[in-house]
Amino acid sequence: MAIMYNEKNGSFKLDTKGTSYVIGIVDEEKFVGHAYYGPRLLDDDVNYLLKTGEAPFTPEKNSRDRLSFLDCFPQEYPTGGVGDFRESAVMVRDNGGHRALALTLSDYRIYKGKDPLAGLPATWGSEEDTETLELTLVDKVLGIKAILSYSVFEGIDAVARSVRLVNDGEAPVTIERVMSASIDMDNREYDKIILHGSWARERHIDRTPVSYGVQSTSSLRGESGHQQQPFMALLEKSATQDAGEVYGINLIYSGNCMTLADRGQFDNVRLMTGINPEGFSWKLNPGEAFQAPEAVLVYSAEGLGGMSRAFHDLYRNHLIRGEYRDKKRPILINNWEATYFDFNEEKLLAIAKEASALGIEMLVMDDGWFGNRFDDNRALGDWEVNEEKLKGGLKYLVDEVNKLGMKFGIWFEPEMISPDSDLYRAHPDWAIQIPGRTAGLARNQYVLDMSRTEIQDYIFDKMAAVLHSANIEYVKWDMNRPLSDIGSAALSAECQGELFHRYVLGVYWLQERLITEFPKLLLENCSGGGARFDAGMLYYSPQIWCSDDTDAVERLTIQEGTALIYPLSAMGAHVSDCPNHAVGRTTPFETRGYVALAGTFGYELDVTKIPAEDREQIPAQVEMYHKYNDLVRTGDYYRLASYQQNRMYDCYMVAAKDKSEALVTYIQVLGRPNSHSRRILLKGLAADKLYRIEGEERTYYGSTLMQAGILMENIWGDFKGKLIHIVEA
Ligand code: DGJ
Repeated sequence: MAIMYNEKNGSFKLDTKGTSYVIGIVDEEKFVGHAYYGPRLLDDDVNYLLKTGEAPFTPEKNSRDRLSFLDCFPQEYPTGGVGDFRESAVMVRDNGGHRALALTLSDYRIYKGKDPLAGLPATWGSEEDTETLELTLVDKVLGIKAILSYSVFEGIDAVARSVRLVNDGEAPVTIERVMSASIDMDNREYDKIILHGSWARERHIDRTPVSYGVQSTSSLRGESGHQQQPFMALLEKSATQDAGEVYGINLIYSGNCMTLADRGQFDNVRLMTGINPEGFSWKLNPGEAFQAPEAVLVYSAEGLGGMSRAFHDLYRNHLIRGEYRDKKRPILINNWEATYFDFNEEKLLAIAKEASALGIEMLVMDDGWFGNRFDDNRALGDWEVNEEKLKGGLKYLVDEVNKLGMKFGIWFEPEMISPDSDLYRAHPDWAIQIPGRTAGLARNQYVLDMSRTEIQDYIFDKMAAVLHSANIEYVKWDMNRPLSDIGSAALSAECQGELFHRYVLGVYWLQERLITEFPKLLLENCSGGGARFDAGMLYYSPQIWCSDDTDAVERLTIQEGTALIYPLSAMGAHVSDCPNHAVGRTTPFETRGYVALAGTFGYELDVTKIPAEDREQIPAQVEMYHKYNDLVRTGDYYRLASYQQNRMYDCYMVAAKDKSEALVTYIQVLGRPNSHSRRILLKGLAADKLYRIEGEERTYYGSTLMQAGILMENIWGDFKGKLIHIVEA
């Protein structure tokens, strides 16, 4: 890891373990160009790549005019309005209503470590393992500065980028667009991968060729959303799980986002990500600054698997924080699918009693414990315990659960307000709405205007009072509807375009306060299942509920897509009852356990009611979790086969960092008539180490297991699974 400035040619080179990222400065005008991103270079002068064509591109000097220069120049942070007709990364409207910006280099700074991003989640690092480059670009007409920040991390092939805009001019401007990162590349017949989905089927992988023009994936829901991810990968057509070049880009943000690829006339591709410009504007007065979210770029020469492992390592070691970052999480049992709203303290204690006897470690009380919340029509915002339901109060319940040797966790939906609630009756203007227009309901609820500090304070005080009232060690933070009818009673007309982003900042601020006040709390984010499974949320909570779909088969696809970017340690995954509540499918209890093992592991069922033969399996599953979770949480993830692609079986493995052991999970979704054993080639082992398959006598070299493989016998029936534990001999 190193960042170098080459004075002779005025270029900057950022080296990671296996990659180089080079930024070149072009001639006296100091246009900043993207020269290279790819496998690590020995040369640090590749500025010649920016000088395609005959004479050097010095727009004010040579015979070529500025428009033909900017039409093809690979701008490091592209601006529009002055001759680059591709997608721009940044655009401001000046006081006179004009839209134009031309940025050239004015200064730079290289320093050890990494400064935090004001109010936003971001990767972090120490002076020993992280280095940062800051380039200050300026528009000389408006006095707008763009401070581009780049960080590299010891041992990880990723570059974290962010942008801060500063108004050093004399007049206000309105920011209409501010993307966090942009990279111009030659198109090598790339495919692109995005993750798309819906409620109960989030993050499905979609791979298509990059065609001409703009292709984007975006959210306008005020959250990252079930439907898309702030992510895109560009990869060579021939790239696979293990080989070929892949560029991945992921935004650390939980609100409206947009990621796009723009393939242009000269067969270059511009890849960028940032806040979705639609519905966004921000007034920047002289002397003010705007911090855009951080984006992460990963280059992998080892296919998609290499990209995933780089994201996992970065997020596990430089994004997730807090008590549980490196800890095994307690196995929880959540009462949502067990009881929905129909519970009282007796039912919960009966579940806890049975669960504790089976080895489950925490009871989580889901939606319905507060106010008049007997169904989803009311009471959001009334964060007081309903003592009619929970006789004896919350402390009594928590104490009783603790006496069983279990921890206790609780559900909140802090950002919401029901029209039928005391809070709404007292403060109808606290809901996001446009005056004169009836705001739309979703799940019978409105969204609180989290941009307002008095609302943040109110919600924080309410939550803190509940959390201080008993020994509560876990919070599930839910969010069950998107934002619409965007209007804030606290913003002026010219600043209404700031609400989407200010809302997200308010949520971040509240979560930060919560984990500061309760540093030992395990926070799990959730949004109607997995609508806010994003890197922004991971900064506050080490785990996120993956999906309301806990069906073992659908989960294979959801978890494959999720693990493309996010570490297994972050994936909230539970065993639930069958027929599955989302798809009506019945799968063996054993298989549900294998699939949930790939994530945080827990239960979502009424353990007093499930069939005895299922219940009897729980102690063995608990043991399995304790045996394998350290490996699953910290190891390297390799995908061996994808049910999403082959429609028959799924197979993935996790190999320990020191290559001393590995766990292979194989799920045969559909049995196949007249079938033989399948040969599975393992990955990520040490070629010259001797291994054993647990339960067998003979040994194999790692190279044998990886090159010749193992035989996976044909299993009779559908939905069956198998774990194979490989240990060093
Ligand atoms: C959506 C979540 O994903 C569920 O797990 C559950 O908490 C419900 N909300 C409760 O309303």
